[in-house]
Amino acid sequence: MKLNPLLCAAAVAFTMSSAIAGEVEVLHYWTSGGEAKSAGELRSMMQSKGHTWKDFAVAGGGGDNAMTVLKSRVVSGNPPSAAQIKGPAIQEWAAEGVLANLDTVAKAENWDKVLPAVVANVMKHKGNYVAAPVNVHRVNWIWASPEVLKKAGVAGMPKTLDEFFAAADKIKAAGLIPVAHGGQNWQDFTTFESVVLGVGGPKFYQDALVKLDQKALTSDTMKKSLEAFRKIKGYTDASAPGRDWNLATAMVMQGKAGFQFMGDWAKGEFMAAGKVPGKDFLCAAAPGTANAFTFNVDSFAMYKLKDAGAQKAQADLAAAIMSPPFQEVFNLNKGSIPVRLNMPMDKFDDCAKLSSKDFVDTAKTGGLVPSVAHGMAISPAAEGAIKDAVSQFWNNDRMSIDDGVKSIASAARNQ
Ligand code: GAL
Repeated sequence: MKLNPLLCAAAVAFTMSSAIAGEVEVLHYWTSGGEAKSAGELRSMMQSKGHTWKDFAVAGGGGDNAMTVLKSRVVSGNPPSAAQIKGPAIQEWAAEGVLANLDTVAKAENWDKVLPAVVANVMKHKGNYVAAPVNVHRVNWIWASPEVLKKAGVAGMPKTLDEFFAAADKIKAAGLIPVAHGGQNWQDFTTFESVVLGVGGPKFYQDALVKLDQKALTSDTMKKSLEAFRKIKGYTDASAPGRDWNLATAMVMQGKAGFQFMGDWAKGEFMAAGKVPGKDFLCAAAPGTANAFTFNVDSFAMYKLKDAGAQKAQADLAAAIMSPPFQEVFNLNKGSIPVRLNMPMDKFDDCAKLSSKDFVDTAKTGGLVPSVAHGMAISPAAEGAIKDAVSQFWNNDRMSIDDGVKSIASAARNQ
């Protein structure tokens, strides 16, 4: 029987392509409405390349739960293809020798040219790419309900902490909750870092929370920061302890609360609910931080796997993450801005456009700082110790400011 050579070639090609298509198991902690929608964009893109997406979502804002599960998987010799890991944690995993080298994709896709150097450096270990960056979140935001501000007679978004507290007093007097908060340590820490930035400015933030300088950590500026931090606590509601961050965002969305201190993944919740920025919700730099940008770059590291199909799927995942189409659709949903340089911003809203402008401007002025609360600045161990000390202060109204300062400085010293 004479076989049709064209048919043979097509069969081989199909077999090859399906052989190259592989499964990609992705560990992440994007489980809220806006986050899940964003993660779905990545899943769709990988499925359109013929790969099988195995979703390994671990709920828990800020990612502590996910990192615990990840460690157990890797220690048991069964790592996922990729995991949402960022900042100094990338270096720790890379030092273990378990991360795949992404240089082939990075070179083919010119990552060194299309990424800000501050980001590219975080994705590399000893000069090799070991992670693919997804976005740039800004953490030093407050979100507000225009309906609540109007009811309370608050004219506009507060620019300073004094203006913020005056607005919070009016909202309280109107019988509404001034600050929607979730009493979880990473949320307390998220609020704390914005207060330190607002009270002390970018240089103080760097000295105290990034360099962990004991003089800065025990200074009068830190005492002032803790005083403001405690004052904010007084504007939260009794049901705040344990509340998930996206439920706090929902309180602002529903006009039950005036403000929320949160990174712009909160915007992803408003967008997923069909809310319009400037009309249904307002964004502004956290009080006193308009000259600064606390960056938080989500990224995926890939684990070394033996299967050729799995490796191809990993390479395709890395390329997809950095591709212009994904950078646009993902960040429109996630509330962040593209990490890829020179991306058109015309489809993005004013909050994102402000973020994009400030990211560039603050890089020139020294106002661009890594988020400590979101794993961009110090070791996971140091971050965890300081985060717990900050939460202990937030939760214990009887702890004096001086004892709070000592406790945080001590947590930082023992690193
Ligand atoms: C951050 C993460 C964001 C979002 C947020 C809430 O650490 O970078 O993408 O997931 O936690 O969970």
